Amino acid sequence: MLVPAIKVLKPARERHYAVPALNINNLEALKAVIQAATKMRSPIIVQTSEGAIEYAGMDYLIAMVKVAAKAPIPVVLHLDHGKDLKIIKQAIQNGYTSVMFDGSALPYKENLAKTKQVVAWARAKKVSVEAEIGAIAGIEDFVSVADKDAHLTNPEQAAKFAKETKCDSLAVAIGTAHGAYKFKGETHLDIERLKKIAKLVKNPIVLHGASGVMEDVVKLAEYHGAKLGKARGVLDEDIKQAIKFGVSKINIDTDLRLAFTAGVREAMDQMVTVIDPRKLLEPAIVLMREVAMKKMILFKSEGKG
Ligand code: G3H
Ligand code: 13P
Ligand code: ZN
Repeated sequence: MLVPAIKVLKPARERHYAVPALNINNLEALKAVIQAATKMRSPIIVQTSEGAIEYAGMDYLIAMVKVAAKAPIPVVLHLDHGKDLKIIKQAIQNGYTSVMFDGSALPYKENLAKTKQVVAWARAKKVSVEAEIGAIAGIEDFVSVADKDAHLTNPEQAAKFAKETKCDSLAVAIGTAHGAYKFKGETHLDIERLKKIAKLVKNPIVLHGASGVMEDVVKLAEYHGAKLGKARGVLDEDIKQAIKFGVSKINIDTDLRLAFTAGVREAMDQMVTVIDPRKLLEPAIVLMREVAMKKMILFKSEGKG
């Protein structure tokens, strides 16, 4: 069934597991993640970015997820990194059960005011709101470690922000980055900072940029010709620590993209005479489903749906 995010995130925070928030752009990815969640009896947050909406159309995405939510597990339809207030309002009015307002690039006061506005719209429709404080980005966006540090979430400011905006969940920056190239040197998450945040912020905490850039999938994609260079993701051990210290929603897109790419490349290599798109896309669905199931085990959401 389709539920607001807070319904699955509150118990996750209380019981120290995390709900996988998986990005989808098409039917194949949606089928893969819903099959995984059903098999693992895990709650799931299906999320679409503004880019996914531009690609697939909001109405198509809503209709597909409404059908997918007939599965016997709690399903959330979430707008990921909402920046455009018009799109956010549309999502709230048309059937999303959760929206993120990403004001992390705005001055503090503007982020605060716009987040409050989104919370007011969402409350009327029982839609959950994720807000963000601190900057989660690509490492290239920061010139030095000190500069990167200055962009990480300040625990006191996070507590004040969550209290004033009355958001449901809060995305924080503790060293992750989006994409396949998260770290230049050693992988490092600021778990001490997370501990301080979790002491002051009792809302479910959200970790973006959490893909592990899983070696087996990278290898498979590379074997079939993809060039991924020095791709590096978040270690499983760091994910476990993050969950232990308050992270209850974990965002994964890159690992699913890698699985999709590996599956498509493999199919193209091995089925040279096949022209049926359903057969060519099946290996991608299988690999994305496997990735999603691995995340549910790692996040301890298995059996919680
Ligand atoms: O955090 C961003 C997600 O990976 C979505 O990426 O905007 O290219 O769909 P996208
Ligand atoms: P990854 O790029 O690490 O998968 O992060 C996805 C994300 O944070 C979506 O909001
Ligand atoms: Zn993100």
